[in-house]
Amino acid sequence: MTLATRYLGLTLPSPVVASASPLTGNVRHLRALEAAGAGAVVLPSLFASELAAADKREETLRAAGACNSPEVSSYFPVLPPDSQGEDRYLDLIRRARAALAIPVIASLHASDLEHWTQHARQCEEAGASALELNIHFVATDLTLSGAEIEQRHVDTVRAVRARTTLPLAVKVSPYFTAPGHFLLRLVDAGADGLVLFNRYQQPDIDVVRLQMTNAFELSHARELRVPLQWIALLHGRVSASLAASTGVHSVNDVIKFLLAGADVVMTAAVLLQHGSAGMHPLVSGLKDWLRHRGMDSLLPLRGLLSRDRAHTSADFIRANNLQTLQGYQPGAHALHNPIDAS
Ligand SMILES: Cc1cc2nc3c(=O)[nH]c(=O)nc-3n(C[C@H](O)[C@H](O)[C@H](O)COP(=O)(O)O)c2cc1C
Repeated sequence: MTLATRYLGLTLPSPVVASASPLTGNVRHLRALEAAGAGAVVLPSLFASELAAADKREETLRAAGACNSPEVSSYFPVLPPDSQGEDRYLDLIRRARAALAIPVIASLHASDLEHWTQHARQCEEAGASALELNIHFVATDLTLSGAEIEQRHVDTVRAVRARTTLPLAVKVSPYFTAPGHFLLRLVDAGADGLVLFNRYQQPDIDVVRLQMTNAFELSHARELRVPLQWIALLHGRVSASLAASTGVHSVNDVIKFLLAGADVVMTAAVLLQHGSAGMHPLVSGLKDWLRHRGMDSLLPLRGLLSRDRAHTSADFIRANNLQTLQGYQPGAHALHNPIDAS
């Protein structure tokens, strides 16, 4: 039995990958994840723009201090630009590579092309096996059109592609008008893999205190359906690797994504809830499932239920929608619906 899979042109011993999160920022946890069967690890993102902002703050403080009392500037250690956070990150890449046999994927978030490309290069030099671009962008500027936002993503991928030879994955949100078309553009621009999808924390409102809140919540397993649909639609139609992210909470979720056609399945939620020990049941459960069905690799399973095997995309979506709506049992949700209950 082998769980070996290919992702971004790399060979992984298993398709279950630790998604970027605080847990993957610690080499002890990374070792435990590898021992528990992870096929690769994605380090937490280097937030390049935040480093730049921190540098600016420090520069301002130094300048202010130097004006008021010159000795204040000596309180600050002399550091080259961006050095603290960035050095720590590059050091994490080096230590992780030295400690692990599985691929170590560095992750990067930046807000301008200069930072994207500069840091991508540094991650490569530090020895990362691959790079994941975490393009986290919420269009709060209402004058920006969808076309402009898509173009920014494409320009970012193209610019990074030109500056690094590392295998490149791109992690984006699902909030695009035509995700399939947009994702194909990212692949044309040089993405070797697509991570579907990033998950944004959304604000809530506290009706007692009358204020916005940032209540943090892990994903729920039902959130898996949006990436599941897009992986099923893209499998076999895009040259890039497909990574599933969001909503993986059990081995069944891993299997669903593989059936839809994912090359790898990522989880952060399980690991943040259970620590690195959360990895083992996903990998051993997948082995058990395959063994039970007489399969000795992922080959017969992958993409079995993708759009590829279901005529056209339109049929695939229509069939899903029709079956769901026509199969609805009146009253099935009555207890949960305050209107029906009254
Ligand atoms: C606390 C926390 C920190 C995260 N940090 C990062 C990060 O640094 N970079 C990134 O690309 N994604 C980050 N993510 C997103 C996860 O990698 C993942 O895509 C998302 O949580 C959905 O997967 P899940 O359902 O397994 O949690 C973070 C998620 C959480 C919950």
